[in-house]
Amino acid sequence: MYTSRISGLGSYVPENIVTNDDLSKLMDTNDEWIQERTGIKERRHIKKGDGNTTSVMAVKASEIALERAGLTPKDIEMIVFATLSPDMYFPGGGVEVQEMMGMDTVPALDVRNQCSGFVYAISVADQFIKTGMYKNILVIGSEHHSGGLDYTTRGRNVSVIFGDGAGAAVLTRNETGRGGILSTHLHSEGKHKDELALPGPSTSYWVPEIIEKNPQENIPYYPYMNGQFVFKHAIVRFSEVIKEGLQANNLTTSDIDMLIPHQANLRISQFIQRKLKLGDENVYNNIQRYGNTTAASIPIALTEAWEEGKIKEGDLVVLAAFGSGFTWGSAMIRW
Ligand code: UT7
Repeated sequence: MYTSRISGLGSYVPENIVTNDDLSKLMDTNDEWIQERTGIKERRHIKKGDGNTTSVMAVKASEIALERAGLTPKDIEMIVFATLSPDMYFPGGGVEVQEMMGMDTVPALDVRNQCSGFVYAISVADQFIKTGMYKNILVIGSEHHSGGLDYTTRGRNVSVIFGDGAGAAVLTRNETGRGGILSTHLHSEGKHKDELALPGPSTSYWVPEIIEKNPQENIPYYPYMNGQFVFKHAIVRFSEVIKEGLQANNLTTSDIDMLIPHQANLRISQFIQRKLKLGDENVYNNIQRYGNTTAASIPIALTEAWEEGKIKEGDLVVLAAFGSGFTWGSAMIRW
């Protein structure tokens, strides 16, 4: 059985910075509320005409990751693309990346697991490498939220949180004989699917209905989130799935060198940090600058932590996520 390691990381966010004060001009909110409840100071939004889409940002992040891995698009044997905001309803974003990057006719798989998407995607890629089927897999998380949020006061509990961006990792068969991905742990609980969801447009609301009904009243086009309910489940599941991963590898919380939690809310990250008794140097957060970029948040944070020299060879790096579905997961990585 082979193991895999991350051989290259990259990220991209649009240039356009949207501050809390900018949002307070559109809806009844304010900088104090947003910072106090979420930790977010600003986020990036795609600007009309800047050329970015979910897949375009994915390519920009992927180009950096590939270069750092010392590989070219022709070396990639599979794409695993996590997003809840693909450019098109179908086909998924993976095929767009395949085309834009000029790759061979490699398999392109889209993962639809929202905030847990990147951890799920890493796990899928890891299995293909473990079995020996592929050597180099491009794993992406990319999201364009800003085009689909409700910027009236009605949508404020959701629209102040989410931002746009992309991150990518190249997973490579580990020939070094050291470390790599130790294990991944995935879960779901569909009975809570309505607590954080965007029901339409979808096969529940097909085109004739969209045309006939007044969308403002009848069709839920904007994401809905039962914030407190999600928060309470998040703090339980994050801790559980991190401990599950540690136990599976006979490790303890004191072995964690760097925890990269999905950037859902700074308060959630801080709660987990306290619960696991981790130092500030052992948890990386950048939600202050980017908001919650769902599937992109972990690869963006992981890339930045690595760029800042906060991840060193031999470190135990833990990725953990929780989100819509509900779905949650963790990945234990020896760097
Ligand atoms: O990434 C996927 C997983 N997502 C999460 O884990 C998110 C989990 N949930 C959260 O992060 C928090 O629940 C939120 C940040 C979404 C909301 O914070 P909260 O402390 O749970 O606030 P709340 O929803 O209980 O609302 C408290 C008050 C309400 O007003 P009343 O009813 O007390 O008068 C809201 O209407 O805050 C109001 N409110 C706002 N006020 C100003 C909600 N959103 C805003 C806003 N600005 N943007």
